[in-house]
This record gives sequence, C-alpha cells and structure tokens, in this order.
Amino acid sequence: MTTTIDNWTKSSWKNFEALQQPNWPDQTEVDNVLKDLSRLPPLVFAGEIRVLKQQLAKAVTGEAFLLQGGDCSENFSNVTAPTIRETLKVLLQMAVVLTYAGGKPVIKMGRIAGQFAKPRSADMETKDGVELPSYRGDMVNRPEFTPEARIPDPKNMMMGYNMAACTLNLLRAFTRGGYGSLQRVQSWNQEFVAQSPMGRSYDRMAKQIDQAMKFMETIGIKTDNPQINQTQLFTSHEALLLGYEEALTRIDSTTGDPYNCSAHLLWIGERTRQLDGAHVEFLRGVLNPIGVKIGPTYDLDNVKRLVEKLNPENEAGRITLITRLGLNNVDKALPPLLREMKREGFNIVWSCDPMHANTYTAESGHKTRNFNDILSEITCFFETHWSEGTVPGGLHFEMTGENVTECTGGARNIIDEQLAQRYLTSCDPRLNAEQSLEVAFQIADMIRS
Ligand code: PEP
Ligand code: CO
Repeated sequence: MTTTIDNWTKSSWKNFEALQQPNWPDQTEVDNVLKDLSRLPPLVFAGEIRVLKQQLAKAVTGEAFLLQGGDCSENFSNVTAPTIRETLKVLLQMAVVLTYAGGKPVIKMGRIAGQFAKPRSADMETKDGVELPSYRGDMVNRPEFTPEARIPDPKNMMMGYNMAACTLNLLRAFTRGGYGSLQRVQSWNQEFVAQSPMGRSYDRMAKQIDQAMKFMETIGIKTDNPQINQTQLFTSHEALLLGYEEALTRIDSTTGDPYNCSAHLLWIGERTRQLDGAHVEFLRGVLNPIGVKIGPTYDLDNVKRLVEKLNPENEAGRITLITRLGLNNVDKALPPLLREMKREGFNIVWSCDPMHANTYTAESGHKTRNFNDILSEITCFFETHWSEGTVPGGLHFEMTGENVTECTGGARNIIDEQLAQRYLTSCDPRLNAEQSLEVAFQIADMIRS
C-alpha cells in the first residue's frame, strides 16, 4: 500500500519559505554533497520507525512514557566512545528509575546521532565590534569566532552523516550487545555519581532489581532473554537543514511509503513551525513520528491547524507536542492548549521540555538554567494534566553523562560562581549526570499516578 499525500514530494518544501537555513556560499557544492548523501545507506530503518510510532501511541493513553534527552547541540569532537557511553548510561539510569518507580514502560530516545544543526535567534554575532555569521551547529560551521570558522561548509553535512552513523553504530552495539542488560543496572552508576546522595539512592534501587532478577532465576524463570538483556534506544533531532533531511528520505521497499531515515523521530523547532513554512511542508509527508515544540506565545488556532496538517488522520503516535512554556507561564499557557486539543479529540503525546523557556544569563555571563525551575515546570505540567483530564506522556531534557557545571542547583547546589568550572556546552546548558538522575528520582512518582 502506498500512501500518497496531496501534492507532496520530498522536495516540495522548496516551494515554501525555509527559515534558519545557512547562507551556503556555493550552491553547486551543496548540491553535490546532497547528491552523494542521497546515495548513502539510510541511518535507521522504516520498520524501527513504525515500532516507535506504536510505542508512542501507548504514551498517548498513558500506557508508556517518553524519555527524550541529550545534548542541545552535539559536536563532532565529542563523537567518542566515552562520551557516547556516558550519555547512554545516564539515559538508561533515568529510564530504569522511571520504569521501576513509575511503573510503566519507558520509551528511551536520545537527542543524539544527528543533533548537529541549530536554529539561532540572530543571523549575526557581534563581539568587540566584529560581526560574523552565527554558529549554526557542526553540520554547518564551527564555533570559533573567526571569519574562516563561521563560513558554512556543505562538507560538514557529509561529516554529520558519518558522525551520526558511527554514533548509532556504537549505540546499537551497546544496547543490543549486553551493555544495556538489566543484569548490569548497578554498573551504569558512574564513579562521580556513585558517591552522591543520588548515586546512593540509585544503588539501593539497583540492588533491589538485582535481587528480583536472582529470585526469578532461583525459581527457574530464564533471564537471558531480549527483554532483560537488550534495550532499544531511538534517535531524534531537530529537522532543520531540509536539504540534508530530504537526502536521507527514502521510500520503504516493504510499504512504498516515504520515511526520513536520518532518525526515528524528527521534531520541528519553535522557530520553524510556521503553518505555511518549508519545515512543516517537508515533515507532513514523511511517515515518522513528529515532534513539535510549543512555546509560550503560541496561537491556539495555529497549533490546531498545525496538528491537523501534520496528522490529518489523527493517527496515535504520529504527533508529540513538546511544550516549553517556562516556569512563569506554564500554569496559564498550558490549560487552554490541553482543553482545546482534548475537545478536538486529537491523539497527542504530551511531552514537557522544562529547559528552553527557563534559560537566563548568570552574572558571570554564562547562559544557565536552575534545577528548581526545571523541576517546578515539570511538576506544574503534571498537575495541569491531572486537573484537565489529559495524559502527561513524556519529558524532554538537555543533559549529558558528563560531570559538567552548566545548570545551577541540584543536590550539590551548583552556584553561579561555579559555572565556569566545567562549562563545556557549545550551545544551551545541560543537566549533568547527577542532576539528571535527581530529576528522575523526583518525578518518578508522578508518572505512576
Ligand atoms: C532545542 O531543542 O535545542 C531548541 C532550539 O528548542 P526550541 O525550538 O524549543 O527553542
Ligand atoms: Co537547546
């Protein structure tokens, strides 16, 4: 069966305005790279994408919960085994906490293996009177503040594909090859976390899981099966560079349908979700699950039309609305949105991004977020869903497995003055491993109810 979507082709987005695209100096070079990319193998397969959609359909009704997290912006220089492993570790740790205490299956999804392009609030950046094009992610240009580094180079898209491929290769090896086994829950606790209150809570929980596993073995239940010794991590990124996304879009040979095979889920950012824009046009035609960021200034009718355009059949699992409203707006901005979408009968995975509207600049000049603000937006998200009779279905974090100091607060109470110690992000501030685990412990009970 082939689904043909009205007037859509994988390049029909070119007839619409595409915001946030780089000013590539040489279009012929871009075209050549994209042609090469379109011949290379897909990064993920349509069958996996369909499995994800089925799982997300369960998050619509509260039978599963989505945990999505990773860097704001991945860097090519961080595509190393230790960095990938640490990010995976902390995602697995959070997921096990949420599954154990929250009592429902957790869909694990990384902002990983392709999160290399960034929308920016300004096209140009000025420093000491010098004006240069903004850094738009490693797939476009480089962060150093020099004219050469900031020239968009299409070869970076090819590099991005290769970096995504090797990241994914390692993730598949870890998750399928025993590393993600529930027998190893204890070993995921990183050294620097193990010494902390969160690490100790985690260790206690891991011991209980271990005991449960030993008990099953004692009474003769086999624990060497895929449910126990394998796990699945889905990939996601913001679908920003439409030429790249088009080049990775393929027709699935088993169904004849178009899938964007650069990641399992693609999301549309707050800055590029115009109803008549190129990003919406492109994503309406691929069959992947789609995320849409919704910020505090949303227009209700606009969101409704966006959902209808992206999901005309109201298929469950197709749309995840990722609300990023901010601690100070969530109690006013979320209820009307939930009410209206419920009234329309839309099938939606409601996910909370407690990061992007809670950013502020510390006195030291560092862009940061406070742990308590993040927690408060999440708490308000859950409470609002409960009072509106809708289902809180997921969470979206910027986080890392590394011991960074980018967000303030948490059990170790990182203060503004400490941000400079290990402030490593090239874009937005991330929760470190310990803060991530702490969030998971704090919210797990809310998932249960
Ligand atoms: C992001 O997720 O990194 C991002 C830019 O988010 P938003 O589109 O919600 O601002
Ligand atoms: Co970000």
